[in-house]
Amino acid sequence: MVDLVGRVDDKLRRAFAAASLPVEGVRSVPATRPEFGDFQCNAAMALGKAAKRNPRDLAAAVAETLRRDPDFASVEVAGPGFLNLRLADAVVAGLAREQAASPTLGIAQRDSAPVLLDFGGSNVAKPLHVGHLRSLVIGESLSRLFQAQGIAVVTDVHFGDWGLQMGMLIAAIRRAHPGRAPGTVGAGIAIDEMERLYPEAAAACKADPERMAEARALTAALQAGDADARADWGALRDTSLADQKRDFDLVGARFDLFLGESDTQATVERIVPDLLARGIAERDEGAVVIAVAEPSDTRPVPPMMLEKSDGAATYATTDLATIADRAASPATARCGRYVYVVDERQSLHFTQVFRAARKAGLAPADGLVHVGFGTVNGVDGKPYKTREGGVARLRDLIGDAVAKARERVDASDPAVDAEALARQVGLAAVKWADLSTGRLGGYVFNLERMVSFEGNTGPYVQYACVRIGAIAARAVAAGARASEISLGHPAERALAMACLRLPAAVEAAAAGYAPNEIADFAFAVAQSFSRFYTECPVLAAGDAERAARLALCDLAFAVLSRALWMLGIAVPQRM
Ligand code: ARG
Repeated sequence: MVDLVGRVDDKLRRAFAAASLPVEGVRSVPATRPEFGDFQCNAAMALGKAAKRNPRDLAAAVAETLRRDPDFASVEVAGPGFLNLRLADAVVAGLAREQAASPTLGIAQRDSAPVLLDFGGSNVAKPLHVGHLRSLVIGESLSRLFQAQGIAVVTDVHFGDWGLQMGMLIAAIRRAHPGRAPGTVGAGIAIDEMERLYPEAAAACKADPERMAEARALTAALQAGDADARADWGALRDTSLADQKRDFDLVGARFDLFLGESDTQATVERIVPDLLARGIAERDEGAVVIAVAEPSDTRPVPPMMLEKSDGAATYATTDLATIADRAASPATARCGRYVYVVDERQSLHFTQVFRAARKAGLAPADGLVHVGFGTVNGVDGKPYKTREGGVARLRDLIGDAVAKARERVDASDPAVDAEALARQVGLAAVKWADLSTGRLGGYVFNLERMVSFEGNTGPYVQYACVRIGAIAARAVAAGARASEISLGHPAERALAMACLRLPAAVEAAAAGYAPNEIADFAFAVAQSFSRFYTECPVLAAGDAERAARLALCDLAFAVLSRALWMLGIAVPQRM
């Protein structure tokens, strides 16, 4: 097992057990300073407090066991009862060689059922905007993270293509083209017209009860299967989805399924009476609801609305029906867990839907998870807007980042496709800014900072990776070959230690649906590489040393490019 952190934690737990101490919560953290060693363990402090014993005594007892283990070069008790551990160099080198030889780079392969990822969540006729960025970027990263663990994924965009918004839109296009017969209007509507008409229609319906009644009637007709309404709707849906697919491609979000709310209609019609008959849903003042409050709730969780008093299904109804459909569809039936990457502001909605699904016996075996995220803010701390004060379109946002990147990248080499390079770097900048912070907090969209080649940025880490690749390429050109990793210089050892944290980073990222764990890891490797690069000549070193350092460079390149892949970030050929 190449899992360095797992191995150390295992040894720690055994040593605590040998000293007759509880092992719960016993784990290592990276040493805060290199002179303290590689790892630190603070568990004796908490245990001492609980047992009213001197933590230093407890730590000393544990240290005694650990010192007998030849894997450790030193074990020290420091301060009020910290344990400082340093691994033997030979152990680090051996693990690094093992990692280099492992096709998964030591990442533990999980034998879990496929995971369904529901992300993107865009709506017909509404252009993708900055709010969709996080779902696409985090969703794609989680998809890759699971794949890196050997877990199959099925991704579904869950298109918002049903409900009142569609009635509003169909009514609006028919009004705009009174000469065309219903059923033939939708096919003539280009994306620009659709995107212009929809907000107008929504505003008109809000202001004018007659327009609203018209939209409702059309929605009802559509849901009842009216052929003309279906035809116009289908054309609008197709045009909008085709346009949005360009954005998905642009940001590199890959979907297996383009199902939507509309696909649930038949199931909605079936489950409402079924849930009523089974006593899971109940009638409440003309509506049909599912009570989902639990005694331990700290904030009120109102009943889930399954059918409004006018007979209409809700957003929650379609989500519940989607869960039923996923279990029944061959494409998704094997999925054990459904993970929804959606704005944290929808957390109450998902609490209701998930509880209703469990009550109805529809939840998949490994559960339902809402992976929420915070808002993208402008430098003023408020939700990000364009200079004109409008909602920022995703396409423009990426365009701006690519333009900024184009100013920075070196296009002097005619063999470099500057446009492609700028796109890779611009996207890396945006994705890194998004994925390197905890997903629940918001972050500030500051292009200037994101595109910088210095500091904790995507381009910085990309650049580190490119530099390692360049060393390897020059070595190949000079006929130099890599041998086996051996660690003499402290900067070599530090780089190997950084690489060896990959499996733990993947575990932590997967457990917390937290791509920032991967970003933290990649940044640490990039920094360790920078130090190695300044302190350890590679190509200019003597034969044996050069060969060993090339092997270490190969490992660093493999590890870093795998981490960037998990973040959906490309590694350019040159930068
Ligand atoms: N279309 C929804 C919205 O714009 C998001 C859908 C998210 N996914 C889901 N299964 N509810 O708010």
